[in-house]
Amino acid sequence: MKLAMKLFGTLIFTTMILLGAATSASANPFPDGNAQAGQQLFEHYKCNSCHDSMMGGDGNKIFTRFDRKRNTPDGLIEQIGLCSGNVNAHFSAQEKQNLAAYLNIFYKFK
Ligand code: HEC
Repeated sequence: MKLAMKLFGTLIFTTMILLGAATSASANPFPDGNAQAGQQLFEHYKCNSCHDSMMGGDGNKIFTRFDRKRNTPDGLIEQIGLCSGNVNAHFSAQEKQNLAAYLNIFYKFK
């Protein structure tokens, strides 16, 4: 009986681990993006230079304001493409993924 309980416990535990892994795997909308590389691009191109003045000093607020424009992962990628023109950059698909992965610390898309 004791052994059966132990086995049952192990089974529950393993199932929870597996479920957890599956959930975290699907929770990243930009699996190919490197957030750290994205942050470097963001800083290099001074992406917040406009957003700062628009948002009264803290440009990052543009990503979390209640009436923000972009509310889907695809929309975020699209906006990055649009704003790249503002800094005369031509980002590759990979670079857009990196920027999106970085900006997702604000957007929190799952
Ligand atoms: C020349 C000014 C300017 C620069 C530089 C700029 N942006 Fe923007 N950005 C804007 C404007 C204007 C908006 C749209 C604001 C609106 O429609 O209310 C915007 C909006 C955004 C949004 C959407 C915010 C939301 O509401 O969800 C993202 C994401 C974004 N920019 C990313 C970037 C990135 C990444 C860069 C650097 C590559 C960048 N921006 C550089 C002007 C700029």
